[in-house]
Amino acid sequence: MSEPKRYLVTAALPYANGPVHIGHLAGCYLPADIYVRYLKARGKDVVFICGSDEHGVPITIKAKKEGITPQQVVDKYNAMMRDSFKEFGIDFSYYGRTSSPTHHNTAQEFFRTLYDKGVFKEEVTKQYYDEEAKQFLADRYITGTCPRCGNPSAYGDQCEKCGTSLSPTDLINPKSALSGAIPVLKETKNWFLPMGELQQTEAFQEYIKRFDSWKSNIKGQCNSWLTEGLQSRAMTRDLDWGVPVPIEGADGKVLYVWFDAPIGYISATKEYFETNPKFEIRNSKWEDYWQDEDSALLHFIGKDNIVFHAIIFPMMLMTHGKYILPTNVPANEFLNLEGDKISTSRNWAVWLHEYLQEFSGKQDVLRYALCAAAPETKDNDFTWKDFQSRNNSELVAILGNFVNRTVVLTHKFYEGKVPAFDYKEEGFDEAMVAMHIFQSKEKIEKSMEQFRFREALFEVMEVARLGNKFLADNEPWKLIKTNEKKTAAIMNLALQICANLSVLMKPFLPHSSQNLEKMMGKEFGWNDIGSMLLMQESDTIGEAVLMYEKIEDETIDAQLAKLAASKVANSQQPLANNPLTEVKPDITYDDFDKLDLRVGKVLEAEKVPKADKLLKLIVDLGFEKRTILSGIAEYYQPEELVGKLVTVVANLAPRKIRGIESQGMLLMAGNDFGKLYSVGPDKDIEPGSVVK
Ligand code: MF3
Ligand code: ZN
Repeated sequence: MSEPKRYLVTAALPYANGPVHIGHLAGCYLPADIYVRYLKARGKDVVFICGSDEHGVPITIKAKKEGITPQQVVDKYNAMMRDSFKEFGIDFSYYGRTSSPTHHNTAQEFFRTLYDKGVFKEEVTKQYYDEEAKQFLADRYITGTCPRCGNPSAYGDQCEKCGTSLSPTDLINPKSALSGAIPVLKETKNWFLPMGELQQTEAFQEYIKRFDSWKSNIKGQCNSWLTEGLQSRAMTRDLDWGVPVPIEGADGKVLYVWFDAPIGYISATKEYFETNPKFEIRNSKWEDYWQDEDSALLHFIGKDNIVFHAIIFPMMLMTHGKYILPTNVPANEFLNLEGDKISTSRNWAVWLHEYLQEFSGKQDVLRYALCAAAPETKDNDFTWKDFQSRNNSELVAILGNFVNRTVVLTHKFYEGKVPAFDYKEEGFDEAMVAMHIFQSKEKIEKSMEQFRFREALFEVMEVARLGNKFLADNEPWKLIKTNEKKTAAIMNLALQICANLSVLMKPFLPHSSQNLEKMMGKEFGWNDIGSMLLMQESDTIGEAVLMYEKIEDETIDAQLAKLAASKVANSQQPLANNPLTEVKPDITYDDFDKLDLRVGKVLEAEKVPKADKLLKLIVDLGFEKRTILSGIAEYYQPEELVGKLVTVVANLAPRKIRGIESQGMLLMAGNDFGKLYSVGPDKDIEPGSVVK
């Protein structure tokens, strides 16, 4: 496509069933935001859309877990996520909700259009049904073993381990996620999108030519799907939470969440135009962005969403007939945390709302660290040590140091006025510097167009490095005593580099770029990059603002301790979805005999500050008293435990968590669905007694 007239950029609508963590940010929201800010810096017309995905089984499962209604779940998390994104500087034009009336109407109309065109195949099939819960088990309501990789906790719609998309009947040993019951098959009618047939159409074959220029990770996944041949997929579900199917004879059925959610991008765009008077003035409408071939449509997503955005949604748009198809679908792989997969249920994550509290004012540091370690082509790891060193040795030591020195010295030597200069006379080749920065600009543009944000960010830092080295080599703080004219030329050039940086940084580090603009007292545009005349003689600059500050070891250690506490809490809980039928491999009596199990009596119990799951217990073992940390705060009030007899693993190596040494572990019984129960003797027996 030649240069698009306008851009519609979307970031995957997150399920409103939990807070945002760094994996979401690095996978989808940060790259989308960087790209949008870049387009805007270049003066492009961009609408950036996101919102809450408020339907689907993930929502109702969460509601059940928290003992509240699905509506309460989505209200709670929609507000929380919206706030976190905003505070972090993800600059959506509009953040919608799929529960909104506009969305319900739009999704129903869309379904109706396809239905009237005869796109869907109506089919009666056998679906799993939970007789205890009296409910059909769609998608994540059912778990079982993945037929492809053997993962015992695959979902009815997808195996998260190997990425295969599944239907419930593919699962081996299926089990209801509602009750744990073995489901039965029961007939029901649904409406299917005949993806196999649509794959053969000329229009689709034409569309998939686009894949050639897409990132290799997406291209690879899509092509393997296409080679295998696409299967029909039901676009309706026997559930009560969702958008009702808008046709006769579909009572008690809702649209498949993956049918309604991507339409959420469209309804959110509509709402944006309805509520934003700016567009009436410009006389543009939402349709321009979705239905005009001169517009570019870009979907930023994580890798588990590829098939829905690159194949299914385009098929929906195509069969509808009025819409343009995605220009590109830049998907990222997964971000791990300290070597382990990020997991909400195991609380193995860095939560954005917690980060924003604990690192107040340091949004750009996390943006920087996440962009620098983004899983652009393969999974990547986030570590707190890396975060610290990115901050201390890059942001503080290079970028911050350069800007700060320049601004402070300008105030000190010239009362904040940009000094007059004569580069030539002083032997400086400012044209060389200009050329260098201009080349960086071109490299950055090239990387950006290919969605290589790490590479682009590195190049921005190259300019900061150049500036920092320039000052360090010329030492104006010394030279001022012997050569005022030369010092003025140095300082002038340093200020020009700062001004250039303020634009270059903008897509990546919006908060600090704003601070730098304040210091320069001016704002510049993308086309100014490379100029050495941005700061004019006798312009006055603003006060120095500290952009970044050193992060100490203690701060990092506290974060690591928090993660260690999650590890302990997890080791004391059954793994989510671990089938109760699966028994671990045999051990010998000698293996068992290594355990020293004792009866203990709980003397004291209290919550551990800032660790939601942990209780600190003092347990009497008869011969001594132990301090034990246990991950059961969600299941027991401290006072319930005092006086209880429990079973203690007395010879578990001690471990320090949040500065407290835990000297043993309590035995707990639990399945995947309910609380944990402490296991103790059923008659009174003295503390210290051996369990054998
Ligand atoms: N809610 C989905 C997820 O979190 C993403 C939906 S993207 C959309 O994986 F296209 F459906 F909106
Ligand atoms: Zn699998």
